[in-house]
Amino acid sequence: MAASPPEADEIFQPPASLQAEAHVKSFKEYEELYQESINDPETFWRRVYDGFYWKSPPTGPFLDYNFDVRKGPISIKWMAGAQTNICYNALDRNVEKGLGNKIAFYWEGNYPSDQGKITYSELLEEVCRFANVLKSLGIGVGDRVAIYMPMIVELSISLLACARIGAIHSIVFAGYSSESLADRILDAECCAIVTTDGVWRGNKLLNLKSIVDKALDICSERKHAVKKSIVVRHLSPKDEVILSGDANGEMADDAIAKRPCRTLKLHWQDGRDVWWHEVMQTADKSCDPVWMDAEDPLFMLYTSGSTGKPKGVLHTVGGYMMYSATTFKYTFDYQPDDVYWCTADVGWITGHTYVAYGPLANGATSIIFEGTPFYPDAGRFWEVIDKYKVTKFYTAPTAIRSLMKFGDEHVKRHKRTSLKILGTVGEPINPEAWLWYYHVVGNSKCAIVDTFWQTETGGHVITPLPGATPTKPGSATFPFFGIQPAILKDDGQEIEGTGEGYLVFKKPWPGIMRTVYGDPERFETTYFKKFPGYYCTGDGAHRDKDGYIWITGRIDDLVNVSGHLLSTAEVESALIEHPAVAEAASVSHPHSIKGECIYCFVTLKQGEQFTDEMKVALKNMVRVKIGPFAQPDFLQNAPALPKTRSGKIMRRILRKIARGDRDLGDTSTLADESVIELLFQFRPSDA
Ligand code: PRX
Repeated sequence: MAASPPEADEIFQPPASLQAEAHVKSFKEYEELYQESINDPETFWRRVYDGFYWKSPPTGPFLDYNFDVRKGPISIKWMAGAQTNICYNALDRNVEKGLGNKIAFYWEGNYPSDQGKITYSELLEEVCRFANVLKSLGIGVGDRVAIYMPMIVELSISLLACARIGAIHSIVFAGYSSESLADRILDAECCAIVTTDGVWRGNKLLNLKSIVDKALDICSERKHAVKKSIVVRHLSPKDEVILSGDANGEMADDAIAKRPCRTLKLHWQDGRDVWWHEVMQTADKSCDPVWMDAEDPLFMLYTSGSTGKPKGVLHTVGGYMMYSATTFKYTFDYQPDDVYWCTADVGWITGHTYVAYGPLANGATSIIFEGTPFYPDAGRFWEVIDKYKVTKFYTAPTAIRSLMKFGDEHVKRHKRTSLKILGTVGEPINPEAWLWYYHVVGNSKCAIVDTFWQTETGGHVITPLPGATPTKPGSATFPFFGIQPAILKDDGQEIEGTGEGYLVFKKPWPGIMRTVYGDPERFETTYFKKFPGYYCTGDGAHRDKDGYIWITGRIDDLVNVSGHLLSTAEVESALIEHPAVAEAASVSHPHSIKGECIYCFVTLKQGEQFTDEMKVALKNMVRVKIGPFAQPDFLQNAPALPKTRSGKIMRRILRKIARGDRDLGDTSTLADESVIELLFQFRPSDA
């Protein structure tokens, strides 16, 4: 969904009440700091570096990099040789500073009556115990651990425990299917996985362990054995868990909520599967951190790639630590008495940086939310905000748009007087949603921060600062410290002043990804080959007359569905696996809530019928192969696809047909023009 033309914009000044206490109090101050961060990055980032504990200093230059494929392999090194531990900085240091009794996380479950909290001291103890569990299972520096969990405190404990002992975590969003999970486990060659028995999402009970079991079976078939599966007993004792297999587990002492009760059958593989609460019982509560090189890997996180195969984006310890902490501090203008809430799942990068590492590195109190915005009703977000007196709130445009549809009453039933900053992330926010967020949710007194970034960037790269930046609805505004953006034309020329083109960055910042796990060539090809000398985001952007940056959306074959990137190739290969399908092509299509959705053209084999049952089966294929969130919104019968004479599918034309737009542009390269009329005929009426 493209932003509105910049000419139509209105400017919103930072709220004066915020400005008084802000870390950056004016646009002038932002500009001065920004200039320093670009002209003298070492001085700027050394100040940040000094705020952390380092066991030993860098052994070489503070920053050493090559961003230009013509000069040799791409390499980015910040503070190489310096030793630290991100878990130590996030927990032990805060306890040492006297924050031991401060709440690190409130946990708000799917059911409003399910709740919990954990202080920094308690979290440190739990993390140490789990780190000792991992060690007792033979897991150590450089080993990969998969995590497939709902939004519970044990998820944060797991990732911090990995970081404490130098194991690399690979969190997979617990909405991915067994097959997707297996692909990711295999690519990273994970030796263990942490999961839970099940989870309630709204009124639905999901058996996460059975998804994991199936994924582990697929891994075994492909000759990779995951040795341990550590299972958190998350369901309440009211949900009966029946184990089949060799072992029996004790029920955890969860709060019993008023809720429907179901039976969950779990298969238990003795020797491989262990209950979290059993192994934690005997684990020691202290565990020395392992001192890691600033450039050692911290985690990988898979993101869609245009070839269809997901990329394991690799982040390293030192740079990511500094960047997640710094962006959190400035973008949300963190203050010690804040209660901060990021609604993102830790399975995505937003959760990694702004639920886990960024807030903890600042000693913040934040909320881990397991539920959905609509359960038990569409007022849940605002109810939680009042319950915990949330000051800074961070969510996705798709959530805002869907809540808008329920009307203002759900919002107005709740006070929301604690709110100061409202953030958005994941996709362009349309000005209408921005204005609703500002006026209705924020009572016209909060700063809105529309933060543009990517899994690859580690943290915010284009964002307003709440006390400094006058905002325009729909624009992510200006670069964060250390980020030097440029907008390029097709021929690679930089556009000076106003104009639209490819959004690229000219220099590395501490939080940029270092490579694609196991595939440095793909890293260079995807991000550095198209425009040598620049990191290429894959997004388009427009710079307006005042210098504001407006993200216009992906310019590759990735589709942003509700803030989740999916590749059209990934969806196509799922469809093609159905025995009735001869060929499939999928394109991005506008959607009023999701921003974009997936529209598929499917050519069936001779003799097959494009019935409603067939459509259901095809949608199901995508759910099974990728996950329910990837399900296409539209499937249309395509007796043939528009192709060039060399056989290339013309997606540009398919996008137009999907929209019912007959202004197709140049069709002279088509091998068979009659296909077009046929496809218009078969277009579903609700598209
Ligand atoms: O297209 C941009 C869009 O989301 C992509 C990154 O997706 P992912 O790696 O999954 O990370 C999402 C959370 C950081 C970008 O290439 N995107 C993200 N934030 C914005 C955005 N598009 C417009 N405005 C944003 N604020």
